[in-house]
Amino acid sequence: MSDNRAIGVFDSGLGGLTVVRELVKQLPFEDIVYFGDTGRVPYGTRSRDTIRKYALQDEKFLLSHNVKLVVAACGTVSSVAADTGDNLPVPFIEVVSNSVRAAVKATKNKRIGILGTAATVNSGEHKRQILKLLPDALVSQNAASLFVPLVEEGWYKADDTVVLNTVERYLKPLLDEGVDTLILGCTHFPVLEEAIAKVAGSGVTLINMGEETAISVKNYLSQNGALCEGSEKGKIDFYVSDKADSFRKTASVLLGEEIDDKKVKQVNIGKYDEGCNN
Ligand code: DGL
Repeated sequence: MSDNRAIGVFDSGLGGLTVVRELVKQLPFEDIVYFGDTGRVPYGTRSRDTIRKYALQDEKFLLSHNVKLVVAACGTVSSVAADTGDNLPVPFIEVVSNSVRAAVKATKNKRIGILGTAATVNSGEHKRQILKLLPDALVSQNAASLFVPLVEEGWYKADDTVVLNTVERYLKPLLDEGVDTLILGCTHFPVLEEAIAKVAGSGVTLINMGEETAISVKNYLSQNGALCEGSEKGKIDFYVSDKADSFRKTASVLLGEEIDDKKVKQVNIGKYDEGCNN
């Protein structure tokens, strides 16, 4: 059995491309339709109602492309609005539960740290899920609100003092708590992984949710006979809600490969407002 439809992936902007990067590594033959809500990023500072509304529109857009599975490649949506995926006609995979499972497996001293957007941290979703699996864990969180604009600006290198100072400031309270495992709870953050690792030191395991989520997608597709049957590199179609040309440069950094301008299209996401799945 096989299924040649594309995998649908969405994020509030560019960060979800770190998940796409892992999907391409692990499932190189699959086609992907990516939607980045670049006209409305960030989601992480918005209310739950607004995040839910946007997530429903993003999901509806992907469904209009006949995808076989939807990935919410956004820490904020996965923390605050994962229920929007409950009634979709195709499977829905989010990034929180996958990273929580990996963190619980990795920790030795049961002290787990989470860095995310304000909405993600305020939701307490990671903490709730960690404590379900590991009731005596000590969970420390910090909203690293400046990480997203840094990455969007292209400032992410581990030898940049602005980057290192910012990372140090957000990490210190978690390191003071003695965490040995740190969830990068926002899809932009893997871009800062080298800088975060430099500050955190070798005693702290970093959990990259892109990797964990791609494993989960691969397992689902193979267990359900839904892998594609091709043996040629899959194609990725990019859709954004703001100008397509401002997407390309930073997107290439996050994805780890050049993006052809012609593959990026702008869509009017507000049009997808009649929830077909709520
Ligand atoms: N992609 C979002 C996340 O993973 C970060 C950017 C935003 O705030 O929308 O939480």
